[in-house]
Amino acid sequence: MVEPADLRTKRIPLSHGTGRIPALGFGTLIPDPAVTLTATRDALEAGFRHFDCAERYGNEREVGMALQVGLTASKIAREDIFVTTKLWNSNHRPESVEPAFEASLERLRLAYLDLYLIHTPFAFQPGDNQDPRDQNGNVIYDQGVTLLDTWKALETLVDHGKCRAIGLSDVGLNELKPIVEAARIKPAVVQVESHPYLPETELLEYCKQNGIVLLAFAPLGHGMKPGLFEDPVILSIASRVGKTPAQVLLAWAVQRGTALLTTPTTAARARENFDISSLPQDALDEINRIQTRQRLNTVVNTGVPGFIARGA
Ligand SMILES: NC(=O)c1ccc[n+]([C@@H]2O[C@H](COP(=O)([O-])OP(=O)(O)OC[C@H]3O[C@@H](n4cnc5c(N)ncnc54)[C@H](OP(=O)(O)O)[C@@H]3O)[C@@H](O)[C@H]2O)c1
Repeated sequence: MVEPADLRTKRIPLSHGTGRIPALGFGTLIPDPAVTLTATRDALEAGFRHFDCAERYGNEREVGMALQVGLTASKIAREDIFVTTKLWNSNHRPESVEPAFEASLERLRLAYLDLYLIHTPFAFQPGDNQDPRDQNGNVIYDQGVTLLDTWKALETLVDHGKCRAIGLSDVGLNELKPIVEAARIKPAVVQVESHPYLPETELLEYCKQNGIVLLAFAPLGHGMKPGLFEDPVILSIASRVGKTPAQVLLAWAVQRGTALLTTPTTAARARENFDISSLPQDALDEINRIQTRQRLNTVVNTGVPGFIARGA
């Protein structure tokens, strides 16, 4: 494994676009608008320069406001931060892609995006309802559009210049490979759940071979208890190296070559989660030998987010 000098400021080059993605990212899946404002501000102050958003999170306006105020107050240039947002499932029709992208840009108060992702490979019934259901409560899918159709519309966004890079989220190799093979502009980033209980080793290997950055969400296992914070291997390494379990988990993710998203909601946790440093090789090996396997987020099965209230 590569041992970067400073994990906190590591940036990974992308296969297209001009940007390099900061390995340490702050995720904005925060249901409360007031907490979104303070947590985004605190993350920027702690040193995070990579912000992950989504149309579906319903808080792009708050993130945009916090970033605008924070950049001005801290004299940080727009070019020094990396902002991602995601196309929601009900906007997969090619004619919906550019309007959805422009609406996100407007809410985020930005002139361009560093990265735009297709949030999930599932197309929902097109329209304003983000969670379309039939009378039995089942999701209404859209059979009239393929993932490749949507991908081609994202490629056009890159051509138009306001979108620096594009990628996918919540995909496995079965969805990723056909897009990589058919795309004019290959995915730069794939965002999936990944942590020591779901290392996604095969997907990571494929991504490395194809110049794709694997961006891990739930690097702390969504903070669920019992979970990674109580794992004996993580606890023993944390006490040995004088770091917290969260810092051990985040360092492991960066050192294995992924980028990551974490969502601290207090200033103290933002500082804690940013203050990571390299683990020794024997600690990395111990984590790699953990046998527990657990997927926490079911979004990959249906396209319905595991952590957003229905109708939110
Ligand atoms: N593509 C997708 O489908 C998808 C799905 C899920 C998430 N995401 C993205 O990934 C981001 C990361 O979300 P996540 O839930 O996976 O983040 P996470 O950082 O793995 O977990 C967040 C949870 O961990 C807790 N936590 C954070 N720092 C901690 C620390 N230092 N010590 C103890 N507990 C700590 C938080 O508690 P407090 O709230 O109490 O601080 C929260 O409950 C999201 O915001 C979103 O941007 C994407």
